Amino acid sequence: MSKRLNHTLLICLAMGLAAALAGCEPTKPQPRQVVTIPDGEIDPAIWGRAYPEEYELWKKTEEPVSERRSKYKTGMDGGAVTVDKLSHFPYMALLFNGWGFGIEYNEPRGHAYMVRDQLEIDASRIGAGGVCLSCKSPYAPGLQKEMGIDFYRKPFKEVLGRIPEETRDLGVACIDCHDNKDMSLKISRGFTLIEAFNAMGVDPGKLTRQEMRSAVCAQCHVTYNIPKDKENKSVGLYFPWQNSKFGAITIEDIIKQIRKDETVREWKQNVTGFKMAFIRHPEYEFWTFNSTHFKAGASCADCHMPYTIAGVHKVSDHRVMSPVQADMKACKQCHAESPQWLRDRVFSIQDRTVSIMIRAGYQCATVAKLFELTHKTQAEGKVIDPDLYSKAKEFYEEAFYRSLFMGAENSVGFHNPPEGLRILGDSIAFGARAEAYLRQALAMVGVEVPLKVDLEIMKYVDQRGEKKLRFDPRLEFKDPYGLQERFF
Ligand code: HEC
Ligand code: HEC
Ligand code: HEC
Ligand code: HEC
Repeated sequence: MSKRLNHTLLICLAMGLAAALAGCEPTKPQPRQVVTIPDGEIDPAIWGRAYPEEYELWKKTEEPVSERRSKYKTGMDGGAVTVDKLSHFPYMALLFNGWGFGIEYNEPRGHAYMVRDQLEIDASRIGAGGVCLSCKSPYAPGLQKEMGIDFYRKPFKEVLGRIPEETRDLGVACIDCHDNKDMSLKISRGFTLIEAFNAMGVDPGKLTRQEMRSAVCAQCHVTYNIPKDKENKSVGLYFPWQNSKFGAITIEDIIKQIRKDETVREWKQNVTGFKMAFIRHPEYEFWTFNSTHFKAGASCADCHMPYTIAGVHKVSDHRVMSPVQADMKACKQCHAESPQWLRDRVFSIQDRTVSIMIRAGYQCATVAKLFELTHKTQAEGKVIDPDLYSKAKEFYEEAFYRSLFMGAENSVGFHNPPEGLRILGDSIAFGARAEAYLRQALAMVGVEVPLKVDLEIMKYVDQRGEKKLRFDPRLEFKDPYGLQERFF
């Protein structure tokens, strides 16, 4: 308490309000706006004239994190450069072989890099077209309105070229999350998030302030699908929430939607030859489905934008990052335990998640290789039992999408620990059953399948071409409990 009082004094003195000590309230934010922000202003520097503290913190998302504090999110260099996810989880190189994600797939880094990283990533990853800018550039909502369907389908570089050169590589900006009039939180991506809320019967205008502190993140930290036309050109973008309710967007709902909609089978998996949909960074879906913290009324901003003191103001830390990298400061707003204790909790949740995630990933890879063998057998003229085959395919997709979901979710299980284990457990169960169906189908035509299926992982790593150079076996996550070798 006395610390707080000292602080109050400091603030008051600094502001030259010593004479009015009695009326000085430190926790109420001061009305600070001295510059009017014009409607539609995208340049954060202009917003920064009114709110220099938030602006300076926002700019810091460009700075590398100097220390390696996270266990599963950073490479050996402490997170200064992008980290190769395919080195962490080599089974992904096999499963995603056939398109961009099998060539290059990185851990996320600071917000300042979102467009820059797109310009540097392997060209195969931006093949979908201008649609790739949707959750990267603050110009996306305007371009979508202006260009209509061409925004999605025109080549990425062409759509990017419509953005003024000076701000072409600008990532998430003030206008993406704020109303320029009163700085209240605002959803700027009507064409994706508002549509998705409406599809669930949620009126986004009625979200509470605390719900908005997560909804602004849900503009991008969600999974999405890109419908394609007959020539495989992108014709739209949507979140697969059609079967869901607020607070309960389950993996089952998502899989149901993406298996039903043939137009979102965006890519072909080489090993199996199957056309598939994809799942990306489902942080919002995973965390809002009954997690302890969601149910306790927390928000994304509570953990990733904790209050901090900048100069004389108490502000939200706009240097959005991992709370582990930020030394658990965010958790201390609600938890009394030490940073070390909290970090250990995070790591033990992540160890368990990684252990079972690896098992699910290799289980899916095994089934994929058995499909490859099955197709080879068919090509040799043998007739595979159609019922067993279609059951195996259905179960394989169920297993694959679950493993994909957890591999794409960025907290390595922390956002919703028991749900993560449920999803991965089901992935293994579906995968094991798919394997049994295929083994039986192959046995029926006299094909002998070895107990341990050779996954040929290095073949798929080699097929990354030049990007193979980024593969570092020292980064591979091994089962923390030493079980991996016994299964695969
Ligand atoms: C306009 C889209 C967009 C919005 C809005 C957005 N993010 Fe991000 N976020 C991204 C992208 C893209 C990346 C990865 C950038 C890269 O790796 O180049 C990212 C990265 C991150 C990271 C990793 C940072 C690091 O240092 O490794 C965190 C944490 C994060 N976002 C949290 C949030 C939270 C919390 C919110 C809401 C307050 C939010 N984001 C809003 C798109 C967005
Ligand atoms: C209770 C605290 C908490 C809440 C609430 C929370 N997160 Fe996280 N988040 C974490 C922790 C802990 C990690 C793991 C960080 C690590 O391992 O370094 C994490 C990781 C992430 C990452 C990856 C960071 C990186 O450096 O790669 C992103 C992105 C992210 N969260 C976004 C979100 C979004 C979006 C929401 C809301 C939908 C959210 N988080 C809600 C605590 C939280
Ligand atoms: C990814 C979303 C996001 C972006 C981008 C963003 N903010 Fe914020 N901002 C927030 C959230 C969340 C809060 C907390 C609001 C609340 O609690 O009601 C906030 C709060 C604020 C506040 C209120 C005081 C405070 O710090 O809590 C100001 C002022 C502000 N932001 C300015 C800016 C400026 C200036 C920029 C651009 C340089 C910016 N913000 C970019 C999400 C964002
Ligand atoms: C807005 C407040 C708030 C913040 C911020 C917060 N927590 Fe929590 N946390 C809670 C509440 C409330 C509970 C449930 C009641 C309890 O167990 O104390 C909880 C429960 C937990 C649990 C046990 C439940 C479980 O699901 O395993 C862990 C572990 C935990 N928090 C870790 C963290 C970490 C690590 C951070 C920072 C990254 C954090 N919390 C940030 C409020 C918060």
